[in-house]
Amino acid sequence: MRRIGLLTSGGDCQGLNAALRGVAKALYEWMPDTEIYGFRDGYQGLITGNSNMMKPGDFSGILTLGGTILGTSRQPFKTMVKGDDDSGPDKVEAMLATYRKLGLDAMVILGGNGTHKTANLLRENGMRVVTLPKTIDNDVWGTDLTFGFQSAVDIATHVIDNIHTTAMSHSRVFIIELMGHDAGWLTLYAGVAGGADVILIPEIPYKLTSVCATIENRIAQGKHFSIIALAEGAIDAKEAEMSKKKLRAKREKESFPSIGFRLAQELLEATGRECRVTVPGHFQRGGPPCPADRVLSTRLGAGAVRLIQDGDFGNMVGIVNNQIVPVPLEKVAGRLKLVEPEDSMVCCAKSIGVDFGD
Ligand code: F6P
Repeated sequence: MRRIGLLTSGGDCQGLNAALRGVAKALYEWMPDTEIYGFRDGYQGLITGNSNMMKPGDFSGILTLGGTILGTSRQPFKTMVKGDDDSGPDKVEAMLATYRKLGLDAMVILGGNGTHKTANLLRENGMRVVTLPKTIDNDVWGTDLTFGFQSAVDIATHVIDNIHTTAMSHSRVFIIELMGHDAGWLTLYAGVAGGADVILIPEIPYKLTSVCATIENRIAQGKHFSIIALAEGAIDAKEAEMSKKKLRAKREKESFPSIGFRLAQELLEATGRECRVTVPGHFQRGGPPCPADRVLSTRLGAGAVRLIQDGDFGNMVGIVNNQIVPVPLEKVAGRLKLVEPEDSMVCCAKSIGVDFGD
């Protein structure tokens, strides 16, 4: 008898259930003597021992279901380790205790960047761990794609498409603010797919003068509307020179709910043209996974079971050049995959006249 634990941690996204199903179905198929334990609400369930023994039926009918049947929560990495003064509960010890108490042989952990740091910590402390990369941000190092990303690109593109028609009718400038605090992948791909005229992402600080010039050039060409795809973490060139602390203090002083509204105000002041702002927010990570994410989640889930079969623990299952590959957790942990300013997609967008504000 083998016992495998499953948990989903961090912000949810499309494809989590499809991946859980992929893991479970492959386990029942290839290692039928396996018991699966599902932990509630991410690492919280492993800390408190809140788990259920799952049955094959629990994984039926969830391929297309958004969210996660296990629940999730954010458990920042810094809260996992004891303070220097040795204060606070030792959460790592608590998680190891649950793991041992249930007699688990391995954990399969689904999550993004923070989740991978903690998974690596558990590995260092002797837990057998395999992870799967999820997030609409697509910023997990070591994999070309994370599941959730392609579904979010579909949704964000649909938002841009619908804004396009109203922007054209009213000859307006529209800002569509998309998710992505650190990484601009979602804004970049949805921006290109939705035909945005300006794409602003955290990795490429923007100059207001460049954005204004693009809007005015379009008007001079008889195009009286403009679409700006803006990542929520975009910064301007002056902010790029500030420390994170200074930038946070500056933003706190500004009275805008988010960067999109600030940019709208700046554009109004600089061009006299009124801008409208659309923020789809968490809508981008809800609902069913797109077919491409269903396929990816299933491949990664089955890939996790291959690693368990081979006893190859301490890895994330990634996809690189369309091949499912193990990626050592110590390489993944604490590393973000950001958009390089010379990324081929950025170059492609620039070659068709998209302005990145640089
Ligand atoms: O899942 C990643 C992400 O969507 C980021 O792009 C976003 O900024 C963040 O999560 C917000 O999520 P939450 O409200 O759950 O903290």
